[in-house]
Amino acid sequence: MLTVAAALGGSMTLWYLARASGLVLLAVLTVNLVLGISIQGGWHPGTWPRFAVQAVHRNLALLAVVLLIVHVVTIELDPFVPVGWWAALVPFVSPYRPFWLGLGTLSLDLLAAVVITSLLRSHLRPNWWRAVHWLTYLSWPVALLHSLGTGTDTRLTWVFAFEVGCVGLVAATVIFRVARASRPRAAVRGLLMAAVAAAPMSVLAWSAAGPLQGGWARRAGTPTTALASGAPGSTGVRGQASLLVPFTARFLGSANSSPSGNGETITISGQVQGGAGGQLVVSLSARQLSDGALAVDQGAVTYRPATGSLVYTGTVVSVGPGSLVLRLAPGAGSSEPAELTISGPVPASSVSGVLYFGIAPAGGAGEDGGQDS
Ligand code: HEM
Repeated sequence: MLTVAAALGGSMTLWYLARASGLVLLAVLTVNLVLGISIQGGWHPGTWPRFAVQAVHRNLALLAVVLLIVHVVTIELDPFVPVGWWAALVPFVSPYRPFWLGLGTLSLDLLAAVVITSLLRSHLRPNWWRAVHWLTYLSWPVALLHSLGTGTDTRLTWVFAFEVGCVGLVAATVIFRVARASRPRAAVRGLLMAAVAAAPMSVLAWSAAGPLQGGWARRAGTPTTALASGAPGSTGVRGQASLLVPFTARFLGSANSSPSGNGETITISGQVQGGAGGQLVVSLSARQLSDGALAVDQGAVTYRPATGSLVYTGTVVSVGPGSLVLRLAPGAGSSEPAELTISGPVPASSVSGVLYFGIAPAGGAGEDGGQDS
């Protein structure tokens, strides 16, 4: 499999393909769902014969199958995302964002049932076929929640606007269809339309509290330790603009202290082993308090990942026992939250710890504006 991945140009190409195919797939499924609901509701585009509209509907479904295959295969070949082939068929067993990825798998299973029964339609009782076809109504929102919860790009404005736009389009079509239906009773239809109309707002509210927040990657179940293990092809680096995907890595170095003014400058420097690798230097300006303790006034950070030419610089946001909360930015790019934990005394000729990059600290400090997704 790694050979195929290499032939496709490495994990970056696979990653772009996986995201692009996911987004185009969502667009195709949305258009086809809208078309299907409209046809059922008696809508007809101008002079088009009925069979032509149905052929478009059927071919869009087949295009969705092809896109879904591309999406799943590129995800599976991408060494960065540890998913596993079983997780593409059995929902909720993936080590990577199990629930949100599991929704994608569930949607795939439901769609497979719809497509297979449609291909075998002439051999099935019409009621059976119709009953299975109703699963489309379930598979679409499930796929949408998967997209929002799993996608790296949910926090990109245009991607989020597109996803919310899909919800709006489907909701409007369902409302239109229900309004024109003669069954069920008017009161029930009114309730149904109100519930569907509330869907876009609910998606907005939930996204604001979930995927659009810093620290979502960790909450969604991204296995950061797996990324840190240095698995072949898994560098932790996604492109040059920013280290978009978070990683956890071991830190090995030293901590030196030198007097300055009425305090000290403590310099912690060392190598990041795993993830994006490279060298990290933290410089803390500390003041001597009357009881002999040191109070850190400010801190500066420089991080040079092993891959690429970007240099991240930033500040120490807070200092806790054995842990420094950092915020780093690659020049003009957006800033990333990070946390460096150090075990053992400081200063010391040898210190070790863990660097969590792109992952907002568990306590919540420094979460605002983080770029992990
Ligand atoms: C009908 C089913 C599915 C649809 C409509 C769908 C759609 C999407 C969309 C729109 C995204 C967001 C891409 C982005 O943010 O740029 C996404 C991401 C993702 N999907 Fe799916 N997907 C489906 C099924 C699956 C399945 C079965 C898997 C399991 C292998 C899967 C794995 C993933 C992963 C791992 C990501 C995150 C990729 C990344 O942004 O790094 N999806 N999907």
